[in-house]
Amino acid sequence: MEKTVKVRVPGTSANCGPGFDTLGVACTIYNDLELTLLPEEKLEIEISGEGADHLPTDARNMVWRAVQTLLQKAHREKEFPGGRMKMLNRVPLSRGLGSSAAAIVAGLKAANILIDNYFSRRELLQIATEIEGHPDNVAPAIFGGFTVSLLHHGRAESYSFQPRLPLKLIVAVPSFSLSTKEARNALPETVPLRDAVFNVSRASLLVAALSRGNARFLRHAFEDALHQPYRAKLIPGMYEVIDAAREAGAIGAAMSGAGPCLIAYTQDHIADVSNAMTGTFRKHGIESRSLVLDIDRRGAHIAKE
Ligand code: HSE
Repeated sequence: MEKTVKVRVPGTSANCGPGFDTLGVACTIYNDLELTLLPEEKLEIEISGEGADHLPTDARNMVWRAVQTLLQKAHREKEFPGGRMKMLNRVPLSRGLGSSAAAIVAGLKAANILIDNYFSRRELLQIATEIEGHPDNVAPAIFGGFTVSLLHHGRAESYSFQPRLPLKLIVAVPSFSLSTKEARNALPETVPLRDAVFNVSRASLLVAALSRGNARFLRHAFEDALHQPYRAKLIPGMYEVIDAAREAGAIGAAMSGAGPCLIAYTQDHIADVSNAMTGTFRKHGIESRSLVLDIDRRGAHIAKE
């Protein structure tokens, strides 16, 4: 008998200011995947929404590859050589909102449910990290909330928590895309000790202030000296947009992941912050749209409709 499941996976914003390759937050923008595993070699992929016009609909598809990886690790790939997938993508592609993490986690999560949750969520984190290369997007996509992730001898660990204060996430999504590879190539091999200290202090303060719900201490906690200074040249007007968001009332603002999206964390002045960000991008010749999101608290889950 054919079994089908539909999963919903959040987009994610990595780094969260000072937490380069470490912090991530799940956002209320979702990709949906309906997966059926088939006992014959047949693959049908239907994509709507973001990337529908160019994402591969054959065995190269990233979601399908994640499905295959999971089945292989569970030694079930021979049982299910084929599949049918229907995807609705809402997470913009190559913009710094974790579209590849959402794709990987969707494939892993859906396939895992169809083999009776053979793997735990911790094991899914490990598999997803091996595919993605870093845990800071896949961890919040799996667990929801803010996540602190690390790699210890190749093993991914992550701790997820909900901030104890309300926060809106305002994301300015520029019309151009930027590959993570290009954004990583802009980074130096080494950084000055003072910049490392700058980030350790802010990242620590950020986690403490979010956990305690203290907005006053968040004021300088979203700053970064490790990656943004090197990537700024890839995003016209980046620091001006960040400054404009803060001047309009945001607590802090930063690159979302490897960009080019910029994200502001705010408690109020939502329209002002949003307009300030897109308006400042426009002054630098960049068209953008803004998303007003909340923090997703669940991570990847079965979608019930
Ligand atoms: N932490 C990663 C980076 C996120 O900034 O390169 C990429 O999605």
